[in-house]
Amino acid sequence: MKFFADTAEIADIKDLAAIGLLDGVTTNPSLIAKSGRDFKEVTKEICGIVNGPVSAEVVALDYDGMMREAAILRKIADNVCIKVPMTLDGLKACKALTGDGSMVNVTLCFSANQALLAAKAGATFVSPFVGRHDDNGFDGMELIADIRLIYDNYDFRTEILVASVRHGIHVLNAARIGADVMTAPPAVIKGLVKHVLTDKGIEGFLADWAKTGQTI
Ligand code: E4P
Repeated sequence: MKFFADTAEIADIKDLAAIGLLDGVTTNPSLIAKSGRDFKEVTKEICGIVNGPVSAEVVALDYDGMMREAAILRKIADNVCIKVPMTLDGLKACKALTGDGSMVNVTLCFSANQALLAAKAGATFVSPFVGRHDDNGFDGMELIADIRLIYDNYDFRTEILVASVRHGIHVLNAARIGADVMTAPPAVIKGLVKHVLTDKGIEGFLADWAKTGQTI
């Protein structure tokens, strides 16, 4: 499963890239606002750090506007992935952009039927938001399992990008189901390494090592 960082914070992206845990980045208008940076400038900087896809979201809601914004975003770098909303205009833009060789991420997916539409529109990625799905009383992981089943039934190539990931259990279940990608805040990605018994084990080994009086 590929790991994307869901952030526009350069320091966090550099940090994860240096560890070797980064396959791509996703941003959205809220994350850009939070970064306080210029959208095009920060997107260019992120694209220079990461080799994989960097999702940059259009804000127009009509097809022509999306295509106009996508043309500007595509020029930023070869690894820009245009993010479009799950609307009929978004799907139309998806079809046109992927037909023209661009990567497209169809975002704000909350149903398996929506994911089916994204695949039929030739999306590179579809982003089901599991955390927000859970928040509203639905089962985010059931949605991922349904999409996996449907995509496998018809051999759709669209990658399932599990988004709105809040904790390690989301990551574990996404991997069990066979999602292609998950995107999570950097703290969630780094938190996956934590285990109380690992910490306790290191503490015990170091205490015993100190007793030997040796150095390496
Ligand atoms: C994904 O592309 C979205 O940016 C993101 O995962 C949304 O997460 P949130 O629900 O925590 O805002």
